[in-house]
Amino acid sequence: MTSQTIAPPPTIGVFDSGFGGLTVLRSLVRRMPRARYAFLGDTARLPYGSKSRRTIARYAAESAQFLVREQGAQFLVIACNTASALALDAIQDAVPVPVLGVIEPGATAAHAASKTGDVLVIATDATVQSHAYAAACLARGLRALEKACPLLVPLVEEGWTNHPVTAEVIRIYLDELTADAAAQGLNPDALVLGCTHYPLLRPLIERAVPAGMAVIDSAESAAEAAVRLVNGQLAPGAGGVGEPATIIRCFATDSVEKFERLGSRFLERPVGQVDLVDLGG
Ligand code: DGL
Repeated sequence: MTSQTIAPPPTIGVFDSGFGGLTVLRSLVRRMPRARYAFLGDTARLPYGSKSRRTIARYAAESAQFLVREQGAQFLVIACNTASALALDAIQDAVPVPVLGVIEPGATAAHAASKTGDVLVIATDATVQSHAYAAACLARGLRALEKACPLLVPLVEEGWTNHPVTAEVIRIYLDELTADAAAQGLNPDALVLGCTHYPLLRPLIERAVPAGMAVIDSAESAAEAAVRLVNGQLAPGAGGVGEPATIIRCFATDSVEKFERLGSRFLERPVGQVDLVDLGG
């Protein structure tokens, strides 16, 4: 009789500056339930979106090293558009495991959705200033008009995901963006949510976009790309039938109670105990 060994499920590290990246984790768990996940929200240093490339790179590299060195992550998903746009190289240099960002999958999804070849992108200040989405879209033959929406992250972090103030802020941002697009002769038919906090606002955003415009969730497209990456590198049998169900451990650098309170809404399941981590200043 031959004994069959089943390789353990993969450990996947997921990182965001806050807990918006739990939307990516939610999509990952749906697609790859038989895995261990370690999620880090660098809540003490949020927002990244208003900081310089140098600072974002340092914070993101330290966070990635925590997930790989302390939590044994074999793959990293950077569930933060700002860190993906400005620090993907720095993260790749800092850890010896495959790293996936959210910009390229988001641009790929925009390409699949757009018939006119013109797309809109909403994101943080830092992501917009990097023009990472414009470059990734251009590489796919798309014209992209990007707009910073700095008020949206604090509204999501406040839990105001279905609040009239948030709806009004979204309406103003999108009116400005579509007017700019028209002034530039663009005919956009897709809107990329270029920040991992924005999927939480999706119902409000869908109500505010012009009819017929596709709303692209970079969390969904990043999770799809991550599944391909992980499955392509797994030993046969790993994460297969008979493995334990999903294991999730969450870490935050601050506001553990708030993470526990709001995180379940983002993840659509209990986040469980959240451990506090000190990554320095
Ligand atoms: N998670 C960040 C992103 O996706 C937004 C929050 C921040 O500014 O740190 O861009």
